[in-house]
Amino acid sequence: MQIDIEVRKTTPYPDQKPGTSGLRKKTKVFLENPNYLENFVQSIFDCLPDRRGATLVLGGDGRYFNRPALQTIVKMAVANGFGTLLIGQGGLLSTPAASHLIRKNQALGGIVLSASHNPGGPEGDFGIKYNIDNGGPAPARYTEAFFRRSREIREYRIARMADVDLDRIGEQVYGETTVKVIDPVTDYAQLMAQLFDFDRMRRALTSGAVTICFDAMHAVTGPYAKRILEEELGAPPGSVINAVPLEDFGGGHPDPNLTYAKTLVEKMYGPEAPTLGAASDGDGDRNMILGRGFFVTPSDSLALLAANAHRVPGYRDGLRGVARSMPTSRAVDRVAEALGIPCYETPTGWKFFGNLLDAGKITLCGEESFGTGSDHVREKDGLWAVLFWLNIVVATGQSVATLVREHWRRFGRNYYSRHDYEAIDRATADAIMTHLHDRLAELPGNRLGKFRVVQADDFSYTDPVDGSVTTGQGIRILLEPEARLVFRLSGTGTEGATLRIYIERYQPDPARLDLDTQAALAELIELAETLSEVKKRTGRSGPTVVT
Ligand code: G1P
Ligand code: ZN
Repeated sequence: MQIDIEVRKTTPYPDQKPGTSGLRKKTKVFLENPNYLENFVQSIFDCLPDRRGATLVLGGDGRYFNRPALQTIVKMAVANGFGTLLIGQGGLLSTPAASHLIRKNQALGGIVLSASHNPGGPEGDFGIKYNIDNGGPAPARYTEAFFRRSREIREYRIARMADVDLDRIGEQVYGETTVKVIDPVTDYAQLMAQLFDFDRMRRALTSGAVTICFDAMHAVTGPYAKRILEEELGAPPGSVINAVPLEDFGGGHPDPNLTYAKTLVEKMYGPEAPTLGAASDGDGDRNMILGRGFFVTPSDSLALLAANAHRVPGYRDGLRGVARSMPTSRAVDRVAEALGIPCYETPTGWKFFGNLLDAGKITLCGEESFGTGSDHVREKDGLWAVLFWLNIVVATGQSVATLVREHWRRFGRNYYSRHDYEAIDRATADAIMTHLHDRLAELPGNRLGKFRVVQADDFSYTDPVDGSVTTGQGIRILLEPEARLVFRLSGTGTEGATLRIYIERYQPDPARLDLDTQAALAELIELAETLSEVKKRTGRSGPTVVT
């Protein structure tokens, strides 16, 4: 079939700069500004000289505007000469599943439509991210090129064709392009079956020896969790809750934390709590892990997975190394030391793990922001983390709480909390960071309460693989006895600025492993205020979110 290609005129926007994770804006920005989506998509395509005949993976988290946006992208991809488009049925693909499909099909890349854990809907957020051929988020050299292109773009290409049927699995040919609508779950489920001990997990779940509640938060992981946990592993129906993806996430905030995954949290702290509780976010890359009446911090989760990886078939041969983002607690560092493997400290954002994974320097990595992953894909992976935990629980016969407490007894505990000041005024946020900056030189050697400053700097990272340098990644203040304060501005917000304060204290004393986190960190929380004056400068009485 011959296809008509239209070249349409457009005018550039000045603000299409990708942040920590793609271009993320209020949905309205996409809806109300003519060609806002088209401009950015053409800017991406213009930066991909090899696109002709190549494979592109397409999907999203199912939020409002996902479907119409996909239809536009399909038509533009056809007009830009891609050879094959692989699209998740219903326009759905979780971020890790997209990453896997890119790798498995040797695609040039993929586009995932998502604003991750941000609420969706006309009043919520929308986003678009590009992943490269290794399956990982586009690194800076790409995103900077997209941004440059977006500021000079004058036209975009689009095919004159009817909408594709996103709900019917099958192939259609449009000119030079084959459009394949595929089941979004199958390939991903196969990958999980290779990594984990599905037989043993199935026995534990069908016998009821182990029980699970997975909260999909009406986002993309519903179909994945249903298929894997209920259909393949035999967890009783109803083990996956909020399983149907909805355009507005059922009015919820698809962020798996103690505040937003309310139904799950109530269940896990109630009398009928199952062995394992878990939740994932909008696009399926985040995870929260709970035991009966017990919350596992993401930093501890990473450390525990590293320490127990040998119990899981896919990691039985050991870990090459581990990595964590700089603000993530240093719990995993101790495990790496005990295992005799390297531990890398990277800036915030999954893209920094890509090179380390590709070069075979690390096997596991994670962030404090509910992100954990491994070399099986190039994104963090929510359901993978849940299956990893389930495998460990089944293999050891121990509860989540016991596993974590034993871990603390062995390695000590890194008390850890993040305090967010959301939607503060940009200028105030910048002034706080400048103020902190100005104090860096004078701090080392000083006493702060019962602590002494051993190091104070603005974190910069030299990539050990390609030598690229990333600066300005957050203020670090390292203290003795072992503690740490980190201050940085969020790169994913869509309103004003968000200041994140990360507070950590190491506690080796076996008698002091079960304290309340905020109480254990009280003195450091005070110190953070003294240093940053965030409450004073913003007029806020405290953080908007504490995790
Ligand atoms: C946040 C998290 C970061 C994560 C990113 C994307 O970015 O802090 O760890 O990689 O979302 O999920 P931030 O808003 O802090 O820039
Ligand atoms: Zn996400």
